[in-house]
Amino acid sequence: MEYQAKQLFAKHGVTVTEGIVATTPEEARAAAEQLGVVVVKAQVKAGGRGKAGGVKLARTPDEAEQHASDILGMEIKGLTVRRVLVAPGASIVDEYYFSFLLDRSNRQYLCIASVEGGVEIEEVAKTNPDAVKQIPIDPGAGVDEAKAREIVAEAAFPAELADQAVDMVLALWKVFVEEDATLVEVNPLARLEGDVLEALDGKVSLDENAEFRHEDHASFEDKEAADPLEAKAKAKGLNYVKLDGAVGIIGNGAGLVMSTLDVVAYAGEAHGGVTPANFLDIGGGASAQVMADGLDVILGDEQVKSVFVNVFGGITSCDAVANGIVGALEILGDDATKPLVVRLDGNNVEEGRRILEEKNHPLVTLVETMDGAADKAAELANA
Ligand SMILES: Nc1ncnc2c1ncn2[C@@H]1O[C@H](COP(=O)(O)OP(=O)(O)O)[C@@H](O)[C@H]1O
Ligand SMILES: [Mg+2]
Repeated sequence: MEYQAKQLFAKHGVTVTEGIVATTPEEARAAAEQLGVVVVKAQVKAGGRGKAGGVKLARTPDEAEQHASDILGMEIKGLTVRRVLVAPGASIVDEYYFSFLLDRSNRQYLCIASVEGGVEIEEVAKTNPDAVKQIPIDPGAGVDEAKAREIVAEAAFPAELADQAVDMVLALWKVFVEEDATLVEVNPLARLEGDVLEALDGKVSLDENAEFRHEDHASFEDKEAADPLEAKAKAKGLNYVKLDGAVGIIGNGAGLVMSTLDVVAYAGEAHGGVTPANFLDIGGGASAQVMADGLDVILGDEQVKSVFVNVFGGITSCDAVANGIVGALEILGDDATKPLVVRLDGNNVEEGRRILEEKNHPLVTLVETMDGAADKAAELANA
């Protein structure tokens, strides 16, 4: 969110005014009493807030309170506004666009800059493509002062602001690298009265793979907006993605889970168009606890009508997985209510199947092939 991006900007020396975050109209009023003329800004992880009516100028504390009361609870691009940023009103002379991003297809970083900022950059790129400059950055070399000067010249920022712009570019590069970001975007990068450059908006995407070296990044997560099951799965260290269908899927390894999604979607065509309800990769180990955690997450999804457990025993042998399933059903007890179709293959498969057959749990159907199991799971979900 903007206010979080601005915290990171401030930390790395980007010229920015952080403002005050408010979650109630009364707090917004108090903030305005302190700051004077303000802009009340919806805080959601989406752009185009201004266009959606989520950014409003308030000249008095009364107005700030009124705007906050209008904006709080608003939906912008499907996201509910739960807080507003009360930012000091700035006297804007001009609005520019600036970003650093990861350019995956070219295996490098990219700087996009334009003197036509403030509006959606995608629009400018269509209507006035020459105004949008793209400057590749060698990931080995990064951005030093010379490169920053090159960027500022290429972007054609006004000469009298060049030194400030160079400092700004260097500070934003610091944010990009030191925070392990995949995107740092400032729109508008505003020229204010008195020839000051300031980041009036900010958007930062952080690389989750680097979370381990940024303890503070956890606090940026929007817990209220996160899917509760996804949050639960994450807390248990499971890779879970909620989808829209009715067949819950548990597999070990992302590749196997992805093919399982395809096979279930295909089999579902013969059963009323049933599709997968989720993607859940329990990873290498498949102990009773891990299996129970996985099942617990999936059974918590009301849309799930049947579950397909598709495991290929590699380092984890099938008998361990079978014991995991039996143990999970014991741990869950009466909470396990939906039919389970299990397909096991690979290391020690005979013993795995024997364990499940011997247990003969009323909810469990053992099927030998992946296609057969997908068909059975789809049939049960459609029943
Ligand atoms: N602190 C501010 N003072 C004055 N105007 C502002 C301020 N913050 C934003 N604006 C104006 O509102 C517009 C939209 O705000 P912005 O933060 O860019 O939200 P979004 O990009 O989501 O629409 C900006 O382009 C700018 O013109
Ligand atoms: Mg903006």
